[in-house]
Amino acid sequence: MGMNLDWHGALAALDWQVDLGATEAIADAPVDRFAESEALAARAAAPAAPVTPPVSAPPLVPLADADPVAEAQAAANAAGTLEELRDAMAAYEHCVLKGGARSLVFADGRPEARVMIVGEAPGRDEDLQGLPFVGKAGQLLDRMFAAIGLGRAEPDPGRALYITNVLPWRPPQNRDPTPQEIAMLRPFLERHIALADPAILVVMGNIPCDALLGRRGITRLRGTWTEVLGRPALPMFHPSFLLRQPAQKRHAWTDLLTLKDRLEA
Ligand code: URA
Repeated sequence: MGMNLDWHGALAALDWQVDLGATEAIADAPVDRFAESEALAARAAAPAAPVTPPVSAPPLVPLADADPVAEAQAAANAAGTLEELRDAMAAYEHCVLKGGARSLVFADGRPEARVMIVGEAPGRDEDLQGLPFVGKAGQLLDRMFAAIGLGRAEPDPGRALYITNVLPWRPPQNRDPTPQEIAMLRPFLERHIALADPAILVVMGNIPCDALLGRRGITRLRGTWTEVLGRPALPMFHPSFLLRQPAQKRHAWTDLLTLKDRLEA
């Protein structure tokens, strides 16, 4: 069965592939695979060189001995400032997502803001720019919060936003994080919240609900105040979901008004 693809359909399909990271298969410089395979063949034909062990190999810690969660906890606890926390995350080597990402996406906005938003993970635009929520979902997020007078560049902490994500690195093809990845990144997120010390947390989408509330089901959780690390927290629909399901925006609006009321109380 054939599929008729018009110009708009083809462009949307291409956009979708770019969103999924298809462009990342293209390196900056061309690779001559013919020369590569000739070199391999030549190496295979050459007599084998004697294998000598490296003279001063560094002692290797067997991977099985390292506890990624305990190490993340220790590194996060040792950070006394947001800058130190960012450095500790940059130095953390147990998360495979780091290897596939261009940037460590730490935060944006004002750390002194009363409201801190926790999103899911950087996408393509965030990975390229090194800042959270700068793509289409981020633009919607900015419009949503501007509607109640809040923004990441507002100088007044009462109107400012501070924004981070559960994952500081973009997952390949924007896949969901594994439970192990969430567990090893949670100590950094918790320390991030403690250091920023917001009055209110907005828990944006299922992944942060999983990481901070220990359960998913945003359709049920949204709009009801709960507590995270001793702070009032409001789960809300993620703007990416709202871009796909615009009819749900009325719920997001209700939740924004709930947040506004709390800030003005
Ligand atoms: N979605 C998120 O959850 N976070 C971002 O930074 C971008 C998109």
